[in-house]
Amino acid sequence: MSSADYAIETRNLTKTFKGFTAVDDVSLKVERGTIHALIGPNGAGKSTMFNLITKFLEPTTGTILLNGKDITSQKPAQIARKGAVRSFQISSVFPHLTLLENIRVALQRRMHNSYHFWKPESRLDVLNDDARTILTQVGLEDSESVLATELPYGRKRLLELATTLALEPKVMLLDEPMAGMGTGDVQRVADIIRRVAKGRTVLMVEHNLSVVADLSDTITVLQLGAVLAEGSYDEVSQNREVRSAYMGEADD
Ligand SMILES: Nc1ncnc2c1ncn2[C@@H]1O[C@H](COP(=O)(O)OP(=O)(O)OP(=O)(O)O)[C@@H](O)[C@H]1O
Ligand SMILES: [Mg+2]
Repeated sequence: MSSADYAIETRNLTKTFKGFTAVDDVSLKVERGTIHALIGPNGAGKSTMFNLITKFLEPTTGTILLNGKDITSQKPAQIARKGAVRSFQISSVFPHLTLLENIRVALQRRMHNSYHFWKPESRLDVLNDDARTILTQVGLEDSESVLATELPYGRKRLLELATTLALEPKVMLLDEPMAGMGTGDVQRVADIIRRVAKGRTVLMVEHNLSVVADLSDTITVLQLGAVLAEGSYDEVSQNREVRSAYMGEADD
């Protein structure tokens, strides 16, 4: 497989903070059209990897490629324009707008970015139709007039996912999509992620290992900033080093 087959690729990526190495020579390959999970104990470097890939942090050394193109020296907005969108933890929701308005803002942002904003699609009724389609994709179609601030936590996360979808990402970076969710919501969000991942690439950081097992085509296990193991869930979960890295973290 060539570099162009990977939605995201890092080569020997390293990030040090004042001499402390948080990400240590990581070469990651995320195949296009797959769901790829990044797991590992607390402090393993997962969030730092996400921040490097989305250009919120500058790497100390190494290269980052998006669809085979070197993006190491690009700005976060340029990466977003190329279709790589990060969801969760960085909130993209306006609390005092309704759900429908929130999605419309995101749709307008996308149109603005893609220089199609002058086209007739930007007419209000078309925007509303598109926004409703997206709300339906995440199961929020019954709440379009509700203010975002009034949503319970689980549904607020669904709205964040919806605003991400409105940007039509080719690559979705999901940072702990299940964090803080109850069991019922976890199943629901997992089903939605599986559905919206079709035709896209998803890279996610997630602590809930049953979700990771359920959704992921490939899993990369980080420990102390470095890759400890990589493969399918069956492969990595049988790896002795992975099992010992996770000992004492069973309920994470
Ligand atoms: N800005 C920073 N300055 C100094 N050290 C940092 C900084 N950001 C992260 N680190 C350190 O780098 C290591 C990796 O942190 P990171 O947040 O990437 O881990 P993580 O795998 O996301 O952990 P968690 O599962 O707890 O979210 C940790 O030891 C952390 O303390
Ligand atoms: Mg983290």
